[in-house]
Amino acid sequence: MFNKYYTNSKRWVVFPIFSIILILSACREKPVELPYSSTKSVVADSAMVVCAHPLAAKAGTEILQKGGNAVDAAIAVQFALAVVYPRAGNIGGGGFMVIRMDDGTADALDYREMAPSSAHRDMYLDSLGNPVAEMSREGHLAVGVPGTVAGMEAAFEKHSQLKDWKALVEPAIRLAEEGFMLTETEASRLNDYREAFEKHNENIAPFGNEKGWKMGDLLKQTDLAATLKLIRDNGSKGFYEGKTADFIVDEMKRGGGIISHEDLKNYVAKWRQPILSEYKNYRAITMPPSSSGGVALSQLLGILENYDLAEMGFQSAEAVHHIVEAERRVYADRAEYLGDSDFYPVPIDSLLDSTYLAYRMSDFDPQKATVSDSIEGGSFQGVESFETTHTSIVDGNGNAVSVTTTLNLNYGSKVIVEGGGFFLNDEMDDFSAKPGVPNFFGLIGNEANAIQPGKRMLSSMTPTIVEKDGELYLVLGAPGGSTIITAVLQTFLNIAEFGMPADEAVAAPRFHHQWLPDKIMVEPTAIDTTQREILWGIGHELRGVNRMAVMKAIQVMPDGKLHGAGDPRNPDDDAEGY
Ligand code: DON
Repeated sequence: MFNKYYTNSKRWVVFPIFSIILILSACREKPVELPYSSTKSVVADSAMVVCAHPLAAKAGTEILQKGGNAVDAAIAVQFALAVVYPRAGNIGGGGFMVIRMDDGTADALDYREMAPSSAHRDMYLDSLGNPVAEMSREGHLAVGVPGTVAGMEAAFEKHSQLKDWKALVEPAIRLAEEGFMLTETEASRLNDYREAFEKHNENIAPFGNEKGWKMGDLLKQTDLAATLKLIRDNGSKGFYEGKTADFIVDEMKRGGGIISHEDLKNYVAKWRQPILSEYKNYRAITMPPSSSGGVALSQLLGILENYDLAEMGFQSAEAVHHIVEAERRVYADRAEYLGDSDFYPVPIDSLLDSTYLAYRMSDFDPQKATVSDSIEGGSFQGVESFETTHTSIVDGNGNAVSVTTTLNLNYGSKVIVEGGGFFLNDEMDDFSAKPGVPNFFGLIGNEANAIQPGKRMLSSMTPTIVEKDGELYLVLGAPGGSTIITAVLQTFLNIAEFGMPADEAVAAPRFHHQWLPDKIMVEPTAIDTTQREILWGIGHELRGVNRMAVMKAIQVMPDGKLHGAGDPRNPDDDAEGY
């Protein structure tokens, strides 16, 4: 009797508690799981795509599996990144593509933005002649004429194997129309930049979210899907003419920008001779102006080939000193001589000449840091927010593409084209607004990179393909402003001189010197304490930064397999291979 009473009463207590727990746990939000994930290091037999977002990497491998080549895949990835990686993937920006076909022929495509026709050299100076940095970094006046869509069309016309443009744009349309779930990083970036979006746009849909974005939220981009359909159906005319052009020009008028219909119609992507440079039994195929990347990388390789870095040891003070002193001289050359070669006679051959490079190092003291000129170097602000994006691809036939594209800073100018649904770049900041005055990345320029209508602003993007003994060996590149060049150099050296596998070479901590400011930037775990002390002792100043460029590399291994490596510095970096 007692027992029965006890049991019954216990039920009365247990049931309600149990039910409350059930109700509460049903109400509690389940931890979100994304229907995709990022893999940083993959070995595959046949083909590989490494880029900044798994959904874009999948768009690329899908195209490869449909019979597209590496160029087809690169186009599909570029359009997909414009949807799933809005802070840097783009149709409102520009970039560079380096191609090596399996027969060894190489090509380089410049789809960098151009200055609008009414741009002029003093457009970012106030009445006292001082540069107003905000004008070239945010808002409508900061925008260069976008090159991406013309670039993709040019790449398609010259190198497509699939010969089906629509199929290359389709994955991006699907992602924009159906929406995709945001990664944690993209959600938090969108939240961080909300105020800046509001400052430059009346309507920040679909990128604003009253409650704040969280990982797993669905981002649908209906306007962008419609723009992409115009591009799918009309090619570059779907962007540079008609409705999209009207949207861009109306947007310019709304915010005091200067891009006109004529500017859009006159945009041209250009095929260029890639820069080929030798380092021991390696050959780098890389980007000529309007990027400084290929010239600077080749100068660095040309200088460093003469020293035994492997013998000195990875990030030994001696090796760092040699690399930094080469970088100091090369970035000084960049400031003086590099600019758009369609407008300025960049002395590429002289800069790469081995006698010149030897002369450049003739005042190098192995025991002492050289002092950079006392010209004011300005601060180096960019290190915490690197949001250009790079893609490395190798297809099943051994064709390789290395492509870097950007809006410049996160979400570019922050201007969203009303009706068009995409961000516009703030690439005009890469011009030298005034001789000797640093841009966002602390880079200084001169006449060679002064603003002129129709000119392309100097870039540091360094998409690169490396051959070893004449065979495809490495495809690499990165976002990271001025640190891109030195990151490509170090990743290559990590593999070629220090024997690291691709994933270690990509993840290894890095350092950087760019002449001015006269400091070695070091990631937290780069260069150990003893070696840092030696460097201080011989006159170098070291400054810690959180992270630098975000590398994406593919290495062809001795057995012919492909090792794809995304960078742990970007949680969303992804390698997909098969
Ligand atoms: O072209 C350039 O060198 C710069 N606009 C790249 C900007 C960049 O890499 C930004 N962050 N990652």
